[in-house]
Amino acid sequence: MSNICLTGLQPTGKLHIGNYFGALNPLVELSKQKEFDKVFIFVANLHSLNSIKDAELLRAYTKDLVLDYLSLDLDLDKTTIFLQSDIRALTELTLIFNNIVSVAYLERSHAYKDAVENGKEANMGLFDYPVLMAADILLYQSNIVPVGQDQKQHIEIAQTIAKKFNSQYGQFFTIPKPYIKPNVAIVQGLDGRKMSKSYKNTIEIFDEADSIRSKIMKITTDSKSPNEPKDPSNCNIMAIYKLLAKSDELAEMESKYKEGRISYKEAKETLAETILEYFQPMRTRRQELAQNPEYVAKILAKGAQEANIIAEQTIQQVRKLVGIS
Ligand code: TRP
Repeated sequence: MSNICLTGLQPTGKLHIGNYFGALNPLVELSKQKEFDKVFIFVANLHSLNSIKDAELLRAYTKDLVLDYLSLDLDLDKTTIFLQSDIRALTELTLIFNNIVSVAYLERSHAYKDAVENGKEANMGLFDYPVLMAADILLYQSNIVPVGQDQKQHIEIAQTIAKKFNSQYGQFFTIPKPYIKPNVAIVQGLDGRKMSKSYKNTIEIFDEADSIRSKIMKITTDSKSPNEPKDPSNCNIMAIYKLLAKSDELAEMESKYKEGRISYKEAKETLAETILEYFQPMRTRRQELAQNPEYVAKILAKGAQEANIIAEQTIQQVRKLVGIS
């Protein structure tokens, strides 16, 4: 029995620290574990169609995300990187799944409710988002799905769909499990809210160094003066620093906070340099890959081919099970 780990991200803009610690970093760690013989990582460009209506922009974001993935320290021997849109069986599976979930059930999805409350266009793509995501996961019989905390409900929907399908048509789909890395499930942004593009509080990993520095200087803090003792457990700078710092650096910073030996300005400067150092290998690798589009295209073609082999096997069986073969 192979053990499959799968995840995807929407190409909705530049990779930020929240995406990295929420989804990508756990993925790199998981992909190195021996128990997984296959790791699938894809660009969820079909999901983005519900919000991005500009073809050039979607293509540019897609390319960005492919480079982001390739800049990670992944074991490429067992990792398959592909575009969601290269898998035709996926849309067919989504359509089949649409017939086993009720409208009322999908109306309870937080992501959908939030989007509608925030004035996003409520098209069918947005509404059906969790079903497409369930198809993404189940098509490859995935065992483990590393995601951020915000995607937990979507994994539950995928589990529900798998169970319902299995009880209706016979045991077939693997029930996937989410993997949400403890402690860093929600990464805080510059203003202390969840780091998210829609809050404009993100720190992009591949921005120019100076732009990263100037963003860090905008992190909101209280107005304690340089020599006043500060609370490291209640500070937006520390919330990000603790993700990146080595344990001795973190301990040192915490004691400086408590003893009033550091100003917020200095803490921000330290954080900015720590970020740049932490991501330097990825930044360099990404720059190199951007110069080599043929190599990138080859990886994607190979990825699509590998993913399609499994996807086709699944969809053939599903067609038989539901009676359309
Ligand atoms: N919904 C995920 C996000 O916005 C992206 C995604 C699509 C995904 N399909 C998936 C993640 C399947 C994990 C598994 O981040």
